[in-house]
Amino acid sequence: MQTLQELADRISSISVSSTLAVSAEAERLRRQGADVVDFGAGEPDFPTPDNIKRAAVEAIDKNFTKYTNTGGIDELKQAIVERHTSDYGTAYTTKECVATVGGKHAIFNLIQALIDPGDEVIIPVPYWVTYKDVVNYAGGICVFVDTDEAEGFQLSASMIERHITPKTKLIIINSPSNPSGAVFARAELERIAQIARDRGILVMTDECYHRFLYDGEPYSMAGFHGMKDTVIVAGSLSKTYAMTGWRIGFVLAPSPIIGGIMKLQSHSTSNPNSIAQKAAVEALRAPQDCVRAMLAEYRCRRDRIVEGLRAIPRVTCTMPQGAFYAYPNISAYLNGDGLADTTVLAERLLDEAHVAVVPGPAFGTQQHVRLSYANSLTHIDEGLRRMAAFFAKF
Ligand SMILES: Cc1ncc(COP(=O)(O)O)c(C=O)c1O
Repeated sequence: MQTLQELADRISSISVSSTLAVSAEAERLRRQGADVVDFGAGEPDFPTPDNIKRAAVEAIDKNFTKYTNTGGIDELKQAIVERHTSDYGTAYTTKECVATVGGKHAIFNLIQALIDPGDEVIIPVPYWVTYKDVVNYAGGICVFVDTDEAEGFQLSASMIERHITPKTKLIIINSPSNPSGAVFARAELERIAQIARDRGILVMTDECYHRFLYDGEPYSMAGFHGMKDTVIVAGSLSKTYAMTGWRIGFVLAPSPIIGGIMKLQSHSTSNPNSIAQKAAVEALRAPQDCVRAMLAEYRCRRDRIVEGLRAIPRVTCTMPQGAFYAYPNISAYLNGDGLADTTVLAERLLDEAHVAVVPGPAFGTQQHVRLSYANSLTHIDEGLRRMAAFFAKF
């Protein structure tokens, strides 16, 4: 017999985000007085730049505190498309743009608007944890494509091609990647876009970490010649401008897809926060020095954390080319001395050394843990010291 507590099947098909679960556990220990080094949260430790905060204060002072258009104010959509044009040479109009409540919301709405039960979505591994769950929620089928750690987790067009079937609807690309920091080769992404266009498949490029690239200039797959109807952009201001709490993201796509997203959004969240929208306009239109400054800092932290991880005996770590995550392979420590898998290892690391990391299964691999180095050098040094001492016990 059905009880009132019984949840819908689609809710049972997903799980709580593991990255948020790790943060909650670290927070619980902190409340008990523990001094936790938190490599779990993928959140910039920088404050939101002052000019962006001032724009929000001004919005409040001017009583810009009411509903706006569901898909965001025109001024914001204009600022989004102009920034994309100036950064990547694309040519979107505001009709091809919707502002959302953060990047996660952009991806959620996009997948719900596009994916029917049984549609296949190709997802390279390791992947950002949320893709799998939002595809499952829509009734879609995740088709995972393994990448090779020895090749720096690079993705090739032939890897994708091998997994295409008549049911393939969408390919998800996240470069720079969360969790590996891999930046896929441009030639392969061009080839993937061509294959997708030829086969009538869509590509979603998640550009959350696009501006955090350590070598070379950022570009967008949507800027590849003739790809505007094939490539959909999911964007976020969260990491780029240290605005995680403000919740502003966006989708750039052909207008019928934007229309579908708007329908869903009009019945769920309605517009993103009006004050945050004004702050986002400032973030996008002001000089971008804050982004360059953060990138320079992340580069120092990347070098320090990778060097420290590689100094731990039997730990290997590929050099991240973008974003702010390290994804070391710690498999040499598994299956002995009570460390059955990376989940147990992460639990013990948190309990015994008060260092929070996210176990690899959240991202589709069994041999790794993810460390976010959006964290001060002091914390990074202390975390590495504790990890070295922890691993020395085994
Ligand atoms: C790859 C990737 N895409 C999108 C997002 C969404 O970010 P937000 O919802 O905070 O804008 C994140 C956040 O961690 C991410 O790592």
